Amino acid sequence: MKQLFIIFVCASSILLLVWNWEKTPHLITTTVDHQPSHFFPLDVETKHHLQLQHNNNNNNNTSQQPSSHHGNTTLQQQLIASSHSQSTLIHTPTKLVQTQACNFGKGKWVPADNRPLYSGFGCKQWLSGMWACRLTQRTDFGYEKLKWQPKDCKMDDFTGPQFLKRMQDKTLAFVGDSLGRQQFQSLMCMVTGGKEMPDVEDVGNEYGLVKAHGSARPDGWAFRFPATNTTILYYWSASLCDIEAVDQAGSETTDYAMHLDRPPAFLKHFLDRIDVLVLNTGHHWNRGKLNANGWVMYVGGKANTNTNRRIADAKNFTIHSVVRWVNSELPKHPGLKVFLRSISPRHFFNGEWNTGGTCDSTTPGSLEVVQDESSDPIAAAAVKGTDVKLLDVTGLSLVREEAHISRYSIRAAPGMQDCLHWCLPGVPDTWNELLFAQI
Ligand SMILES: *[C@@H]1O[C@H](CO)[C@@H](O)[C@H](O)[C@H]1NC(C)=O
Ligand SMILES: *[C@@H]1O[C@H](CO)[C@@H](O)[C@H](O)[C@H]1NC(C)=O
Ligand SMILES: *[C@@H]1O[C@H](CO)[C@@H](O)[C@H](O)[C@H]1NC(C)=O
Ligand SMILES: *[C@@H]1O[C@H](CO)[C@@H](O)[C@H](O)[C@H]1NC(C)=O
Ligand SMILES: *[C@@H]1O[C@H](CO)[C@@H](O)[C@H](O)[C@H]1NC(C)=O
Repeated sequence: MKQLFIIFVCASSILLLVWNWEKTPHLITTTVDHQPSHFFPLDVETKHHLQLQHNNNNNNNTSQQPSSHHGNTTLQQQLIASSHSQSTLIHTPTKLVQTQACNFGKGKWVPADNRPLYSGFGCKQWLSGMWACRLTQRTDFGYEKLKWQPKDCKMDDFTGPQFLKRMQDKTLAFVGDSLGRQQFQSLMCMVTGGKEMPDVEDVGNEYGLVKAHGSARPDGWAFRFPATNTTILYYWSASLCDIEAVDQAGSETTDYAMHLDRPPAFLKHFLDRIDVLVLNTGHHWNRGKLNANGWVMYVGGKANTNTNRRIADAKNFTIHSVVRWVNSELPKHPGLKVFLRSISPRHFFNGEWNTGGTCDSTTPGSLEVVQDESSDPIAAAAVKGTDVKLLDVTGLSLVREEAHISRYSIRAAPGMQDCLHWCLPGVPDTWNELLFAQI
């Protein structure tokens, strides 16, 4: 009964959201600069229901997730169920989806002999050891042998040479958090087939991506394939907004202004030299991470003193801001293609990341995504009405709870599992196949 209720609430909130987008697509273009004092709109709790279930690091109350796990019902299945119940409960308009040529996010995972596209034992040149599950104690590798098949569209098979040809004299940039870095490493491995490629040049210095004195690593990496003059880069911007050190006389620690209404300085500076841009954010939007980084939210150049403001709203506000900004730049950059990659779902069952949450299944929760709408309503709403495309990976990743690093994390403390990052090769390879199909 309780589950039914949850499903119903989900269904209603999806419906509400969808209706809202349909009715008020222009809302998102409202400029906020003029109303900094109340830029976080009041929201109905249910609106965040979906979001909270798979994306709130603060939410260590997992009363919903474990119950769905025990019932062998994944969140995805709940969503599927809810989209069904929704259409039987109410006569929904048939045009629920954004009009787009093809919905790559709807389809199914099928077994494929020609997967993975590179070996997890190889690709040492670009793949971090901590994400190479082949190098860990893990013994089940079924997760490597699935291929995504969109329902209503043909998707070209990815090959490195074809990718490079398509990207001749071009630059592809990933800007985002560590999940963006996973997608970057995945692409480097896919393009090279995981083979050693000594002629690939490190061109990080052209983008200021050099290790600063005293820091553990640079803010990103950039590599060029000389044969086709193709550059692939990654820049770390976990929040997708401008971060600026704030002088604090007499303080040991540095605080950082996190300008929610300003794009990352790196993007402003290098947009001219980017042909394909893939943005993402999501998992750093929680008090713990903000405080740990010393990030203080700013809007309109002023510190945000209203601590009651919800982080989820700040995240939504920032995503809308950066999408609006980059969309406004598109006329000046006619060849530029921009994607907002939707949220990569987490799968902590029976606890949170720091309270013993696990993801040790060896089989997917489901193989199919049947719904039309994205499982990331925030990202879908942010790109609506713009020329920024949604790289919708949420639904297809949501059913792949078995493909995380899980207990094989070589970094986390014993007993802690990584149910956020993915094994590579693995699910992020598919994100790149979807990207390849759309460039
Ligand atoms: C996200 O922000 C946009 C623009 O600021 C707003 O129109 C929308 O209602 C917000 N969505 C949620 C779920 O809060
Ligand atoms: C749950 O989160 C709150 C606030 O983030 C924290 O104070 C509390 O210790 C957490 N509880 C557990 C069991 O981790
Ligand atoms: C978790 O949430 C449920 C319902 O939302 C609530 O009844 C319960 O008290 C919460 N538990 C904790 C530890 O916050
Ligand atoms: C749920 O999963 C368990 C273990 O994976 C299995 O034994 C059980 O039959 C499943 N139940 C249903 C209803 O699928
Ligand atoms: C490589 O591509 C860039 C554009 O991305 C272009 O400006 C440059 O001239 C090209 N270099 C060569 C050697 O063709």
